[in-house]
Amino acid sequence: EISQFEEPFRPQFHFTPPTNWMNDPNGMVYYEGEYHLFYQHHPDGNTWGPMHWGHAISTDLIHWDHQPIAIFPDEHGTIFSGSAVADINNTSGLGTKENPPLVAIYTYHDAEAEKSGSVDFQTQGIAFSIDKGRTWEKYSQNPVLKNPGIKDFRDPKVDWFEEGNGNGKWVMSLAVKDKISFYSSTNLLDWNHESDFQPSWGAYGGVWECPDLFVLKDKEGNDKWVLFVSINPGGPNGGSATQYFLGDFDGSTFTSEGEEVKWLDYGADNYAGVTWSNVPKQDGRRLFIGWMSNWLYANLVPTEVWRSANTIPRSLELFRSGENQYIASRPIEEIKKLRLESKEVEGELIDLNSELMEIELDIVGVDFEFELSNQEGEKVILRKEGDNLSFDRSLSGLTDFNKEFEKIHTAPDLGLELKNLQVFVDKSSIEFFFNEGELVLTEIIFPENPYTQLKTKGFGEVKEIHVLKSIW
Ligand code: FRU
Repeated sequence: EISQFEEPFRPQFHFTPPTNWMNDPNGMVYYEGEYHLFYQHHPDGNTWGPMHWGHAISTDLIHWDHQPIAIFPDEHGTIFSGSAVADINNTSGLGTKENPPLVAIYTYHDAEAEKSGSVDFQTQGIAFSIDKGRTWEKYSQNPVLKNPGIKDFRDPKVDWFEEGNGNGKWVMSLAVKDKISFYSSTNLLDWNHESDFQPSWGAYGGVWECPDLFVLKDKEGNDKWVLFVSINPGGPNGGSATQYFLGDFDGSTFTSEGEEVKWLDYGADNYAGVTWSNVPKQDGRRLFIGWMSNWLYANLVPTEVWRSANTIPRSLELFRSGENQYIASRPIEEIKKLRLESKEVEGELIDLNSELMEIELDIVGVDFEFELSNQEGEKVILRKEGDNLSFDRSLSGLTDFNKEFEKIHTAPDLGLELKNLQVFVDKSSIEFFFNEGELVLTEIIFPENPYTQLKTKGFGEVKEIHVLKSIW
């Protein structure tokens, strides 16, 4: 008998639901020493179905306490993606000044209305908690934002926008078919349309989903506004992926600078990711996780008890490459807590004795090759040859659940000099971070046997291997 969290392929240091289906991370909010993580969840099956918000709480973003389901479907529909904020001034009146509420803003998807042929079946609703997120109550006058007659109208991401002199307002970014609409509110309950963002040169391979709007500081200390837009399909390596825009937001309108489509991740498996709200100013980080899968095959991957994991948490920062600015996704410091044992190893061929690893390498060659393999012939290869950076998982393990899964993925070098590589290996994923996250590839894999050998070319003589421990 295999106990929960020990099943084949069960990630050991990535977040997974205890059982059944998960997709997008939702409602990430920090409040009173706790990081909340909600997620799109189908509690009655291991494929996508009527959505609920699953819930977990962490004090370090590494170890998670699973919570009861937070938000259930009701007469307005099932519960699609959205966000949560700590309404510390009780602007909504849903709590008190002394005990302010946590407020979740999510999309209602009315499947019955959809079946009957209407287009206005997605609306935005609200639930709130006055016990630090342990229990959730629906707002009595849902929905708070009605549908204007557009089929895709979803994934509200809300944050507080400071207007100066202590004034401010709530701003909602909403995915509306193939544009992002911005709404504002002073109480989270009444929303006014501000503007739409739809640049002619964006990536439009599919429907726009899961926006996020926030500020990062550039090297000079100036504020730069960031807009995330997940799209499906149309990603650089097929299927789902997250593009982002850098620019300015004046409280009403987002203006993008430059006309380059930028992608957060060049692996196939980082989708619908957004950032935590209400992280204390003294922490200063923009904390992110994504859903580590792709709609191309999410429903087909070879796990049964649960389906899907999240990426490791990352901290987002701006960096410059030549004239251009990009976002780096850095593994958070707290990840180091997972290190059980660290050793320096030398040579091109290294025997491995753990399935959970972080590997650090210096890049010395223009070309390089990183290969993990086992005696059974399963392997993954990350390779750079000239300008061509690629990842091959065609022989990684189980792949026959979907043809697309075997495709080779490629990434541009973004004009970077690639200096080092950090690799996180879990039971069914591999995440590559170049130059502390300036270029990232997040990939899921299903090896039936542990990889036992690392073969390298083009890296410094000494490699560092950290054996990691399970969080369960
Ligand atoms: C993104 C998405 C969202 C939607 C949710 C439904 O993966 O399609 O747009 O709210 O999943 O589960």
